[in-house]
Order: sequence, then structure tokens, then C-alpha cells
Amino acid sequence: MTEPATIVIFGASGDLTARKLIPALFDNFCKGRLHPQTRIVGIARTAMSDDAFREKLCTFAKETLGRACDDEHWEQFAGAIHYQAGDLTNLDDYHALSARVKELEGDHGGGRLYYLAIAPSLYGPAVQNLSGSGLALETSGWRRVIVEKPFGRDLASARELNAKVHDAFDERQVYRIDHYLGKETVQNLLVFRFANSIFEPVWNRNYVDNVQITVGERVKVGSRGGYYNTAGVLRDMFQNHMMQVLAMVALEPPSRYAADALRDEKVKVFNAVRVPDAENVEDFSVVGQYAGYHTEQDVPEESITPTYAAVRLDIDNWRWQGVPFFLRSGKAMACKTTQVVIQFKRPPHLMFNVADKHDMRSNRLTITIQPDEAIKLSFQTKVPDAGMTMQSSELEFLYEDSADQQVIPDAYERLLLDALNGDASLFIRSDEIELSWRIMDPVINGWSSRPDEALPMYKPGTWGPIEADGFIRRHGRRWINDGGKEREAERRPAPERRTVQPA
Ligand code: BG6
Repeated sequence: MTEPATIVIFGASGDLTARKLIPALFDNFCKGRLHPQTRIVGIARTAMSDDAFREKLCTFAKETLGRACDDEHWEQFAGAIHYQAGDLTNLDDYHALSARVKELEGDHGGGRLYYLAIAPSLYGPAVQNLSGSGLALETSGWRRVIVEKPFGRDLASARELNAKVHDAFDERQVYRIDHYLGKETVQNLLVFRFANSIFEPVWNRNYVDNVQITVGERVKVGSRGGYYNTAGVLRDMFQNHMMQVLAMVALEPPSRYAADALRDEKVKVFNAVRVPDAENVEDFSVVGQYAGYHTEQDVPEESITPTYAAVRLDIDNWRWQGVPFFLRSGKAMACKTTQVVIQFKRPPHLMFNVADKHDMRSNRLTITIQPDEAIKLSFQTKVPDAGMTMQSSELEFLYEDSADQQVIPDAYERLLLDALNGDASLFIRSDEIELSWRIMDPVINGWSSRPDEALPMYKPGTWGPIEADGFIRRHGRRWINDGGKEREAERRPAPERRTVQPA
């Protein structure tokens, strides 16, 4: 259970508040994890009564949570929700907010969590005014601020924003959110690696051939064209989510599960990633745009914003030297899947006379982060009564099959709880953000300085542009397109079999 606290949501009329934050807080409330003295105050420009705000949120919460949002619980929860109209660029409105929050807190006081669910251009003014109005002062309880992505649009702007944030808050008060870290299965990477003893010994350059991190989305840009077109896939997915997953796969064991121990290890990984050279961007990456992207709402006809990218990163340390990490993500892809594939090396010597040694599949560990959360280990076995014929077999753990099966909570549920409890382990520190931009900036700049003819197109519903296959082949590997339930179903009836002649 959390301590008594007030959660102030800036950007209360936005989608994030209605579709993610309030449902996540409601779930925590229903699970008895929120202290009864928890207050939620939404602030946005439009004038609205508390009741009108509650009603609006209720409609969205019902849509998001379905039957889980029962009237009785909602009524109890909604009593803690309040609304205050205000302009985030106006200091006077912060004084008014401060007076309202004090009135709501009464004699109880408590901590305050400020959630910036607002346009990035308002982050600077918001933290400045929080400080100017005294709302950041910890005289009567802790004060924390959650900052959403995107945190800057390059290294220079991220540094500038960090400086503004640090003028108002100490780093320990700042919670930069990346919802991927709130996903159970991303956290499970730590448990899988460090709560078992059999995987770590092979989790390195001696056994691993390459690592592939794929975040495929079936959806197109939809109504987010205005934002997306200024960001593109590299800013939208790589600098944050993909780099965080990479860090979780590559980091050394932290000495304990604590915010700084974990974040120090991620920083070491980012420091060891070879910074790409913008001049040779096509050597280590490929980008693409799905056909029809320029007809999306708020996307200009001549847009050269990439909706797909694949990037090879190398980590210059003892564990990973020579092991390429291939990261790829795109909109309008073949299926929705977030997957980490650890492709192991072939056995050093094969005593069987396999017809085609290149066809011999080596061990592979596939960690499906979403959907159909699973961990799968592939290995070779002998087909019974068929000479020395081999087949690929799998050991698979499906989250949905686990005996103590629980509904996997939404990432925001966990992250909001952690922020209220003062656990910053799953939030991003200022140095991580900057290092991650330092790695992505040359890729973004390299491609944006290329003429638009260089941007390959791909058909929606595919695995990206054909150039992506050529790209990975040039690095001596191939993509492992293993995601999605449909694909699994397609593959299962006919397991691969290869004939092995006696040596
Ligand atoms: C967001 C991006 O951060 O992550 C979106 O802005 C993307 O473009 C989303 O669709 C993906 O999140 P998830 O949890 O659906 O994989």
C-alpha cells in the first residue's frame, strides 16, 4: 500500500490520462494498493466541474477496462478525483493549484506526484512554474515529477531539458517514464537472467551469435500523423523502448535490485555501445516507409519520415565483442510482436553428416514480450525411428499457461505504484537518456541528410522493406520472423525435419 499522496495530472483532458493513467490508478485502487488518503487532481485549460471530469473519465475507463470497471468500485474511486482549470504557462495558475491541493489535503499533508502528461513543449514551463510556485519544495512531504516521452528530440535538446528539470527538482525526484520498463515481461528479463544459474554462463560472445530485438506493430500511424511525422520510428521507438530492452538484455548483473545499481549497469552498456558514424549510415542501418503513409491524416505528401528502421549496434566490452545486436521496429508490419531472440552459435563440430550444414538450425532462445508472452528454447532432437533424422524441438513457457495465472497488469499500473512508493528502478535517469540520444542521433541525422529517393517503401502487412533483408544478409545473418500466434499456428502442423546420413 502506498503512503497518503496527491497525484496531480497535468494534461488531464488528454488521451493518456483517460486511457492509461486513470484506468491504471483505478486498477491499483481495486487491488487495495492505493492509500485511502490518495487524491487525484487533474489540471487542463478547459473549465470543468469535478463531476463533469469524473463522468468523462468514467466513460473512458469503462471502455478500457470493460467489465472490470464496476459501478460500485468506480463510485468509491471517483470520489478522490478532482479537477482544476489552469494554463500551464501561467505562474498564477500554479499558485491557485497549490491552494487547491492544500485545501484537499487538509491536515493530512502527504507526498505529491506531478505527472506531466502534456505536450513536450510544455515540460520546460511546467517544471519552471512548479518550482516558482513552491510546489516542488519538500517542506511538508516528498515531491516527485513524472516526465513522459519524448524527452528531447536529440542530445542537445535532451540536455537542455535535463538542465531545466534540474533547476526545479533534484534528480532523485525525477521519474522519466518509459512504459516498456513497466511491462512484466521486460522485467522478467532480469529474473530470467539473474534468478537462474544456467543461462548466464552462455549469455556472451562465446555462445551467442547475434541478438535480434523486434518491435513490430500492425497498426498504422492513424490519427497521430502530426506528432509521428516529426518524430519517425527512430525517435518514437528506438531511442527509448528499443534501447531500454537492449540494455536489459546486455547489462551485467547488478549487485542488488535497487534503482541506482540497476541504472548504473544500463549506463555502462550505453557507454560501451559503439557510437554509429552518420557518414556511413547505410552500412549499419536501413529505413523504410509503408506505402500509403503520406495519405495519413496530418502527414504531408512529400514526407520522408521513416516508419520502419533496422539498426545494427555493437557493444564494445568483453561480454559482447563481435556479437551484433539487430534492432528493428515498424508500423504496418506483418504482426504485432515484441520479441528478443538470442541466436546461439552452431556446435563447433558436427559429427553427423547433415545434408546441408547451413540448414542445420542452431539453438535459439525467443523471449516474446508481447502479445502471447512466452519464453521458448529451440534445440535439435532425433526423430524416433527415422535413422539419424533431426528435427527442431522446443521447450516453451507460456505466461497464459502458468498455474498461478494472473492477468498481466498494464505497464502504467506498475510504474505509477513504483513512483508513489519512491522506487525509481524502472525509470530512466538523466545520464541514460543522454547516452541513448548520443547513440541514436547519428542514425537519425545520417538518414535525414540523405535524399528522399533513398527511402525504400514497403507494403503494409509485411516485415518491412526488401532492403532490410539485404541489409542483414550483408552482415551474414537473417531475420528471425517468429512472432505472432497466427504464424506459430501455421508452422506447427509441419515441423521441420532434416535427414542426416550416417557419418
Ligand atoms: C509509444 C509510441 O511510445 O509506444 C507508439 O509512441 C507505439 O507509436 C507504442 O505504438 C507501442 O507501445 P506498445 O506497448 O503497444 O508496444
